[in-house]
Amino acid sequence: MMKNEKETSTIKFVLNGKSVQIDVPPHWTLLRLLREKLGFTGTKEGCGIGECGACTVLLDGMPVNACLILVLKVDGREVQTVEGLGSRESLHPLQQSFIDHGAVQCGFCTPGILMSSKALLDRNPHPNRDEIKEGISGHLCRCTGYHQIIEAIEAVTHK
Ligand code: FES
Ligand code: FES
Repeated sequence: MMKNEKETSTIKFVLNGKSVQIDVPPHWTLLRLLREKLGFTGTKEGCGIGECGACTVLLDGMPVNACLILVLKVDGREVQTVEGLGSRESLHPLQQSFIDHGAVQCGFCTPGILMSSKALLDRNPHPNRDEIKEGISGHLCRCTGYHQIIEAIEAVTHK
């Protein structure tokens, strides 16, 4: 049976540095809220069951699969999506490095991997190759073979 979309809860959280207060059905996921109600479509939906990492955002600075997070869990917390990482005019160093190293092919996995990479570099500015592999281990990329992605992250750590 379809859950009642008219029953809503009010949640308040910080999204990319801006306060958001919104009524949303409590059974919705953070991914659905971001994409369908707030228009933040940079965060991608792949598997929808926590296996591909395409939907990764930062929740209080930690990478999470937004497809597995119910909206009530976000209340009072801070979310960062790829839209908050850099802008077209001013790319984040990771975004520039992904372009420079050919780490973006179809691009579907890219926003999620960028967010996990950011979280990795925030907690460990100079990860070694194994730590980089571990940092992106929750992500599937069917295009690159991961090599260019690892090189792109590694290049930022050397700056
Ligand atoms: S869409 Fe969330 S992990 Fe695949
Ligand atoms: S670039 Fe296509 S899935 Fe990673």
